[in-house]
Amino acid sequence: MKKAETKDDIMNRLSSASLKKEDIVPILKMGTKEEMRILQSLAMQIKQERVGRIVYFRGLVEFSNLCRKNCFYCGLRKENKGVNRFRLSEEEILQAAAFAHEKRYGSLVLQSGENQSEEHIDFICRVVEEIKSKYDLGITLSCGEQSEDTYRRFLASGAHRYLLRIETSSPELYGKWHPGDGKHSFETRLNCLKSLKKIGFQVGSGSMVGVPYQTLEDIAGDILFLRDMEVDMMGIGPFVEHSGTPFYRSEAYSIPREERLKVTLTMIAVLRILLKDVNIASTTAMQALDKFGREKGLLFGANVIMPNLTPATRRKDYLLYEHKPDLDEDALLCDNSLEARIASVGETIGYGQWGDPLHFFRRINHSSSPS
Ligand code: 5AD
Ligand code: SF4
Repeated sequence: MKKAETKDDIMNRLSSASLKKEDIVPILKMGTKEEMRILQSLAMQIKQERVGRIVYFRGLVEFSNLCRKNCFYCGLRKENKGVNRFRLSEEEILQAAAFAHEKRYGSLVLQSGENQSEEHIDFICRVVEEIKSKYDLGITLSCGEQSEDTYRRFLASGAHRYLLRIETSSPELYGKWHPGDGKHSFETRLNCLKSLKKIGFQVGSGSMVGVPYQTLEDIAGDILFLRDMEVDMMGIGPFVEHSGTPFYRSEAYSIPREERLKVTLTMIAVLRILLKDVNIASTTAMQALDKFGREKGLLFGANVIMPNLTPATRRKDYLLYEHKPDLDEDALLCDNSLEARIASVGETIGYGQWGDPLHFFRRINHSSSPS
């Protein structure tokens, strides 16, 4: 029988200066209640010391589901003809911003499929400028791969954070998850992350857990990638099948659906222990697999939640995966129950604060100080 991991084992493994995938895999394999309790308490101790037990809200506005890409796992892929494509009007996005302001959320995330048209980019810049002129909200964009020039325009319009998941740190796996049509390149994605960092965004990245062909070794690699890229924010989520995609009912799983939430929680805890002052989101996909998935994420070290502010009539058209929670509830209802659930696990909500990742300020001070 495998020997259980103790607190010292976990800390010794993670604090090794030459941390390797092989050191992380045994932690990702942990499964007993006692092991998970130990990991959780280590992560929570560091969370308390470095970022406090405060949860920041970012109101999520999924403002367009038009996408030029065909990722094999995602329900919004271009070839999924069963999707009603939409883009919210400026007015609808501003209404969501007004709601976030009124509820003192502090920040807004504007997310869309990947669209590189001039018209779309102008639209985003205009909307961001408009929101910034009206409200003191931090703005995060999550609009896929764009040119460095476009990223600069986004920054100049007033957005200051950008989310772009690497999805997987393995170029080989990236090739299996995306078509080889010239639009899906690991290298381009990596270069986008580098550009975003260089021009001064607070940068978020992350990956999925349990996508076909992926192993625990690959996930250990994702953890090391996020550490080495020095990103400020992280979004990790379990893969959830969508029937309109090639990865529906794949035979190639090595991490079964019932294990994906546990591995995601373990990954969040390891990232908190290793990276300390980053922001880590407790993602909606976790809630798709477990009603209390997001609350569990907070108890394993996450400190950001993105309540969905997309108008209720449009949510069914923004299905990256199926069984997405809160489809029928309006923002107010789900927000009230969320607040109560967060309080019930002992966290405080950072109302009215942008909640920027402390890691970002440490990173820029470090890189601007003389060596
Ligand atoms: N299951 C879980 N997450 C998914 N995403 C896309 N498709 C799925 C899916 N089927 C994630 C990707 C993307 C983010 C916006 O949503 O990681 O970057
Ligand atoms: Fe488009 Fe993003 Fe879905 Fe890929 S993951 S198909 S880029 S929305």
